[in-house]
Amino acid sequence: MALQSKIRPVELVGQTVFLIDQTLIPYEYKKIEIDNYKDIAAAIKDMLVRGAPAIGISGAHGVALAAKEFQNLEKKEFFANLKNACDYLISQRPTAVNLEWAVKKVYNYALSNEDKDVSEIVGKIFEFAKKLELEDIEINIKIGDNGAAIVPKGATILTHCNAGALATCGYGTALGVVRSAFEKDKTVQVFADETRPRQQGARLTTWELVEDGIPVTLITDGMSGYFMKKGMIDLVVVGADRIAANGDAANKIGTYNLALVAKAHNVPFYIAAPLSTIDTSIKTGDEIVIEERSHEEVTHINGKTVCAKGVKVINPGFDVTPNELIAGIITEKGILRPDYNESIKKVFEE
Ligand code: MRU
Repeated sequence: MALQSKIRPVELVGQTVFLIDQTLIPYEYKKIEIDNYKDIAAAIKDMLVRGAPAIGISGAHGVALAAKEFQNLEKKEFFANLKNACDYLISQRPTAVNLEWAVKKVYNYALSNEDKDVSEIVGKIFEFAKKLELEDIEINIKIGDNGAAIVPKGATILTHCNAGALATCGYGTALGVVRSAFEKDKTVQVFADETRPRQQGARLTTWELVEDGIPVTLITDGMSGYFMKKGMIDLVVVGADRIAANGDAANKIGTYNLALVAKAHNVPFYIAAPLSTIDTSIKTGDEIVIEERSHEEVTHINGKTVCAKGVKVINPGFDVTPNELIAGIITEKGILRPDYNESIKKVFEE
């Protein structure tokens, strides 16, 4: 039985969405209430909610809120407006495929009920979005349990960014593996990269692991090679935002460096992600759109400038780790191994 985390960053209750405001953690724990889709879109863009599965399900709930807003329209108008709202939600963050996946899934579900009254369709959309939310937690527990099998006794697991309960509807993907492994073996521990520039590792990963009583040591992003050389890291497990058909995986900026350092030290590097993160419509990682984020994330820390005024900045939010650096992709259907073109194709045929 997997260790249950109580952290629920995205919850639909009736026709209201509750989000943990992740911009406030670790200083403050606050849930915000949202009842319209434009505020969901803003919460995704401003990263009150973040992490591929969490923005996916928030998007799904956003479609339900949009449907409620348009429920008095005649059916043709209803669907036209709903489609525009879906496009708007998807456009908020480009790299994580889960957002597009979940929004389109809800929209297609609505279309499959086109023969019903609009009010009935709206009710069904809310039920469907809630089902996706609960399924996400179940999927993460499966990922965790599948991944725990490859965690050696007493292992130190290095992770980057936050692929935890906070990045999903609960339990987490990479941190789901940690939770399931820790449930079996209380000597497992985590090293968390701080994850510049937004500090998801320092702010979010340490917070949620401490909440659940799992030992965690915070390191800065440049320290991984130092600890690997000393033999202090047994494996790396990170999440993903979009995985191409050949296994190339986009994740938070800095992941690629980590994978290279892991390769140099013979430390296995794993991705933990649901099948909904795999985008079989793209052949390789070269096709993944990388989000470019604001320069202030790099030039400022806690509102204070940390560099020369007017300096040039580039701030890609993600990078792509090539498939040859990845030992396995831990999914709800088991661990996919190279050749990923083959294993990914096969898992979608099952
Ligand atoms: O910019 P973020 O915080 O949304 O980036 C999150 C990540 O890169 C995560 O590792 C990824 O979404 C996987 S979450 C299970």
